[in-house]
Amino acid sequence: MKHILGVIAVIAAITLAAWVWLGRSFDQLLPLRASEESFFVDRLLGMQFYVIAFLFALIIGFMLYSIFVFRRKPGDDSDGDYFHGNTTLEIMWTVVPLGVVLYFAVVGAGYLGDITAPESNELVVQVTGSQWNWRFDYPRFGISSPELNLPKGQQTVLEISSIDVIHSFWVPEFRLKQDAVPGMVHPLRITPTEVGTYVVRCAEICGKDHSYMLANVNVMEQNAFEAWVRAQVAPPSGGLAEAGAKIAKLNGCLGCHSVDGSTITGPTWLDLFGEEVQLADGSTVVADEAYIMNSILNPGEQIVAGFDTVAMPANFGAVLSEDDLEALVAYIASLSTHDSTE
Ligand code: CUA
Repeated sequence: MKHILGVIAVIAAITLAAWVWLGRSFDQLLPLRASEESFFVDRLLGMQFYVIAFLFALIIGFMLYSIFVFRRKPGDDSDGDYFHGNTTLEIMWTVVPLGVVLYFAVVGAGYLGDITAPESNELVVQVTGSQWNWRFDYPRFGISSPELNLPKGQQTVLEISSIDVIHSFWVPEFRLKQDAVPGMVHPLRITPTEVGTYVVRCAEICGKDHSYMLANVNVMEQNAFEAWVRAQVAPPSGGLAEAGAKIAKLNGCLGCHSVDGSTITGPTWLDLFGEEVQLADGSTVVADEAYIMNSILNPGEQIVAGFDTVAMPANFGAVLSEDDLEALVAYIASLSTHDSTE
């Protein structure tokens, strides 16, 4: 009886200390809560932290108590007492954890129902992952963006997909994560509550530049969002090359092709147009419009020497329109300093 009271005191002390520490530092351990959904997630996580703190104390308490109180006395070589089970204890350590797990399952299912419930006036944004880029399309306004802009307080459904391998959409401040799977569309509902700039990361290993697969998420006031939409739907003022620069950014071309002469995953676009290109099969070709079109549509055909592993997706023919392709070629031509009409 003395030992039972002793070990209960040790467990209570460790549990209390852990709860005080958690109560003080829980918010500092986590990033900002920037969506309605994050409050549900953090409430559930907080409850689990408190249960886990008690379980931690239960194990550590018994261990520390045994180490110090039941230490072998000098000269005592006798065997310890032999126990063959304890039915009451076994029923307790089965029923109590079962009840706790079922309780969390019921509460968690309720929260999941709340945060995934559709609303009638949702803003729809199509999110497309690719190696290594995020692209955001707003079908209601007919605009596309390399950054995710969201109005504060408006429930938004992100329709998440991929054009190549599996990626995963993750904004820690929103506390939600959803896989982007080719051929499938997964919805994710977010209601941002804090104006600010966050970063969407890819949370699924997807190749060489996985860790650089980032895009800004800008949560703005409703009127700022509307102003942004108006500016996007206005007709483009620049020429074809400027449109091509936008398309290159939107579709992730610049994740692999630099425009400053450096080599990333693919050949640079600087001074490419009109140049002689050495191919891996030993032949040479002039980088004219036909060569660049073919390299975009059939990246495995004319491989540049030194780039033996073809990392480029082969499905840009399905992603880009004729106009997009023409604008891209014009942009690449504009990056060439020597006369490209020769
Ligand atoms: Cu996309 Cu990792």
